Amino acid sequence: MSSERGQFSSRFGFITAATGSAVGLGNIWGFPTQTASHGGGAFVLVYLVLTFLLAYPALMAELIIGRHTRHNMVGALPQLTTRPALKAIGRATGLYGVLIASLILSFYAIVAGWLMAQVPAALVNITGQLTDTNWFAQSSLIRDSLFCALFSVLTAAIVARGVKDGIERWSTRLMPALVLLMLGLVASVLTLPGAMEGLRLYVVPDFGLITDPGLLTSAMGQAFFSLSLGVGTMLVYGSYVSKTDNLPLTGAYVALIDTGIAFLAGLLIIPAMFVAQHRGIKIYSSENTLIAGPDLILQTLPELFNSLGFVGAFIGLIFFLLLSIAALTSSISMLEVPVTFALEQFKISRSRATGLVASVIFSISLLILFNFEQLFGAVITATTKYSQPLLGVFLCVFAGWVLHRDKLLGEISEGFTDVEKSLFWKIWPGYIRFICPLLITIMFVQHIVN
Ligand code: TRP
Repeated sequence: MSSERGQFSSRFGFITAATGSAVGLGNIWGFPTQTASHGGGAFVLVYLVLTFLLAYPALMAELIIGRHTRHNMVGALPQLTTRPALKAIGRATGLYGVLIASLILSFYAIVAGWLMAQVPAALVNITGQLTDTNWFAQSSLIRDSLFCALFSVLTAAIVARGVKDGIERWSTRLMPALVLLMLGLVASVLTLPGAMEGLRLYVVPDFGLITDPGLLTSAMGQAFFSLSLGVGTMLVYGSYVSKTDNLPLTGAYVALIDTGIAFLAGLLIIPAMFVAQHRGIKIYSSENTLIAGPDLILQTLPELFNSLGFVGAFIGLIFFLLLSIAALTSSISMLEVPVTFALEQFKISRSRATGLVASVIFSISLLILFNFEQLFGAVITATTKYSQPLLGVFLCVFAGWVLHRDKLLGEISEGFTDVEKSLFWKIWPGYIRFICPLLITIMFVQHIVN
């Protein structure tokens, strides 16, 4: 069995793949827009704290379970116990995770399609045909379905090639390109008039906003989404990690890089909004809050790029290319969850499993597109706001309570010999048992009550 399973060829390979998964629309779109709608610096601060308090420990739970069991999300949890009732709960949790991963991909592919369509839209602008009738720039059912299909095909093509030749190879190619593009964009936007005002809003927290109850749950949801937690993405990637890797350290790199890139994206987008305002583009909505959500990325920023003429069209092209790349390295990690499940449970070939699963998920995307008003927001809320943290609690409980402490220690000490003397071992096991589930539950209840 294990000889058929793929494995990342090196620690670098794993880190790029896992950060490729983590860094996506959640960082470049979600984080800056949430920051904009929750008053800037205060949100950034809470987000950073919650990432290290909650998300990093939960990430470790997934990576450890994955590498220990070398299984997909559904197969992994029942292996941690011999008790039939717990096995059944593990299996149900796994199936729920596979379902949520698939649903997340179904809306993610729609959003990624919108962004990919902006790439040819920017090309049309560069060739000088600045018209209002740029087909690629305007949402329509046909355009959205076509680009969603294109994005889904690209995702499936990479996943079908497997762990090393697909996921790892493409992540190591695309991720450095992403970072370079982003640094170039940040540098050019920060030189434009108006950028400094945005920078101030972004880095100086308004502590009056920190007690806003919506802020805490939004920041927690954002942290879970950004690190791809709960649905088994990191568990499956963990199952491809070599036993010689130091997991706590590797996981820390992933969390740090993910957070760093989210921060960098904020450094790009919030100042860009104020540059737009400086040029007469509206950035506050009627309720006097900063424009956030799709309007920001799909209207305000393109308006800004257009107002900057030829250079702007070029910046726009790079920006949307960047978003598409980031989305692709994330979507492959989502698709990998149901694909490994299908592959290992039904013993079919990888290409077959990929084709089947991707077709089902694309059908769900179409269903959402054709019933957009009713489904789009509802699917996002049900998956990311409720299911992901809930699944996070289950995974913490399985790692902390169900997996035997000796086995846990044995697993972490592979690739990390002195683990027993480490700070990680002093804090993490108790933390994952009590504090993580408790904190997540409190936030949940607090959210529902409000
Ligand atoms: N973390 C990615 C982002 O920030 C999205 C992502 C990839 C994801 N895999 C996931 C989100 C699994 C939730 C669950 O865009």
